[in-house]
Amino acid sequence: MILIKLGGSIITNKEKSLSARKSTIDKIAKSLRKLDEPFVIVHGGGSFGHYWSVRYDMHTRPARYSQHGIAVVKNSMVSLNKIVLDSFLKNRLNPYCLPPTDFMENGRPIIKKVKEIEKIAKSNLVPITFGDALWYGKKKSYILSGDKIMTILAKTLRPRLSIFVLNVDGVFSKLTTKNLIYEMKNQRPQFSKISMDVTGGMKRKLEEATKISRLGLDVFFVNGNKPQRIVDAIKRKKFEGTLFRGI
Ligand code: IPE
Repeated sequence: MILIKLGGSIITNKEKSLSARKSTIDKIAKSLRKLDEPFVIVHGGGSFGHYWSVRYDMHTRPARYSQHGIAVVKNSMVSLNKIVLDSFLKNRLNPYCLPPTDFMENGRPIIKKVKEIEKIAKSNLVPITFGDALWYGKKKSYILSGDKIMTILAKTLRPRLSIFVLNVDGVFSKLTTKNLIYEMKNQRPQFSKISMDVTGGMKRKLEEATKISRLGLDVFFVNGNKPQRIVDAIKRKKFEGTLFRGI
């Protein structure tokens, strides 16, 4: 099974609030049709969820955030999710909408529900979940990032490959020269600062990718503007991006 995270940076225009990159989403969906292995999609918030999370000062730490904020963030994520679902449906991929409330409770995964996701994927449906504002309990809520969901799902489902689809080629050792790291070992990469982000941008992705690779699972960062690269990686043809080998 393959786990694929569509980053907010690739499915939305990060610098423009509430703006989805519909044709990019369509192109990715079209490429994913070429896969002959079950897969699960997780998508990020980009200029939908992050835009409102910043506006309402909501973070990943459980706290008593604005109730209106929670409602607005959630609503924006449902809108973005609908755009992704529509695109997958149009491309005959049988998307199966799976909000994280379906498998998360009090900030923890419901393992039985997580295991069910694999069964859904193997039945020729494509489970699609996303980062979201979630109820935590005791009047608290929190932002659950799609990157964190990747680690949660990887722990239980142990996918053959976890892919983070980005708006860049992968991880760079130097931002100025765009020097791509083909295989992540002990390098110190450089990141650009992203303004509209409450979950930590590229740094968070790297942390989660490292966690997944330490579970003994391969992780791959790839540019979603070149969706064939996603297919090539899954079909073990070539890895044009950054690979984190499972250790
Ligand atoms: C965003 O999830 C969740 C919300 C802000 C509601 P991510 O943190 O995974 O989103 P991207 O991929 O970095 O945009």
